[in-house]
Amino acid sequence: MSVQALFQPFHLGSLQLPSRVVMAPMTRSFSPGGVPTAEVVEYYRRRAAAGVGLIITEGTTVGHKAANGYPHVPRFYGVDALAGWKRVVDAVHAEGGKIVPQLWHVGSVRKLGTEPDARVSAYGPVEKLDDEGQLRVRGMTLADIDEVVSAFAQAAVDAQAIGMDGVEIHGAHGYLVDQFFWEASNTRTDEYGGSVANRSRLALRIVEAIRAATGPEFPIILRFSQWKQQDYSARLVQTPEALGDFLRPLAAVGVDIFHCSTRRFWEPEFEGSDLNLAGWTRQLTGKPTITVGSVGLDGEFLQFMVKTDKVAQPASLETLLERLGNEEFDLVAVGRALLVDPDWALKVREGRERDILPFSREALARLA
Ligand SMILES: Cc1cc2nc3c(=O)[nH]c(=O)nc-3n(C[C@H](O)[C@H](O)[C@H](O)COP(=O)(O)O)c2cc1C
Repeated sequence: MSVQALFQPFHLGSLQLPSRVVMAPMTRSFSPGGVPTAEVVEYYRRRAAAGVGLIITEGTTVGHKAANGYPHVPRFYGVDALAGWKRVVDAVHAEGGKIVPQLWHVGSVRKLGTEPDARVSAYGPVEKLDDEGQLRVRGMTLADIDEVVSAFAQAAVDAQAIGMDGVEIHGAHGYLVDQFFWEASNTRTDEYGGSVANRSRLALRIVEAIRAATGPEFPIILRFSQWKQQDYSARLVQTPEALGDFLRPLAAVGVDIFHCSTRRFWEPEFEGSDLNLAGWTRQLTGKPTITVGSVGLDGEFLQFMVKTDKVAQPASLETLLERLGNEEFDLVAVGRALLVDPDWALKVREGRERDILPFSREALARLA
């Protein structure tokens, strides 16, 4: 089996990647007070040293008071956190790798009591009260939306300033940007709700603001998904036509690469074609795409954290290589397999698959 397709360089303007292997963004919760530690620096450095072409960091919160939803998630604002990220960037670059932060706002899933200010409620597309009638989610005003757009733009400016190679906007999995995309969570009646164009308006404004603030060359990746953490079977779009209508305006305002989050890369997105979400997205937008989902995994871990009612039949690495070789997609993100084994890419390249460490739940408890 030739694994060469995975180890071809990839060029897109100023972004020059040494391989097609991308580290998928994975929240690790090892940044107390929101500051990436020396351990975090080493964690990313090891993956760059072992042949990962592009690291997408764990979700890191933009500078808005309600952006965070979980303990020990790194911030992407504040002198201390940005200094920590600068050390990560320098370490990755020293190994010949590239890195972008995944910019994150969790939206309505934030709970009272969460860092950095425990008293701040969640912000989301529409107001929600809890069973006692207390405000649980603040329905965002137009001024709130402006603030969040500015926070994303500022994070991108800071990313550029510390030498990051671009940014990824987290527009997937039922967090803020996706809560606006999705009809079920966005029932607004103003210009941010209703039609697809309206539901995309927050994302469009974020992309536009980042593009305006960072210039024409700074790579912008948008991660999106059909599935939501609130509902694995949710679908934003039902047809290729609807997917094209959704994505083309985002490409037009400045998205350079679409990161198409699926749980299994081999599953066809629509009936009547083998193309997966990344395949369709590439065809419909003409933009490069990243595929993701259970690369290098088998057995029970196909179900772990990505539960589904379908019985999972793992696809081989050969299938992945063939589809990459056929240019169905451009880049391949690897999540859990890289979380447990920093040398995953190197072992694949050298044909040492037997040496790859198997995924385990215990792996989540440390930064290997
Ligand atoms: C521990 C863990 C944390 C994750 N955190 C994030 C995250 O912060 N942002 C995101 O977009 N996806 C996140 N994901 C999803 C992964 O990026 C990826 O899409 C998913 O794990 C499927 O890829 P895999 O099968 O190669 O693991 C996370 C997944 C895991 C296992």
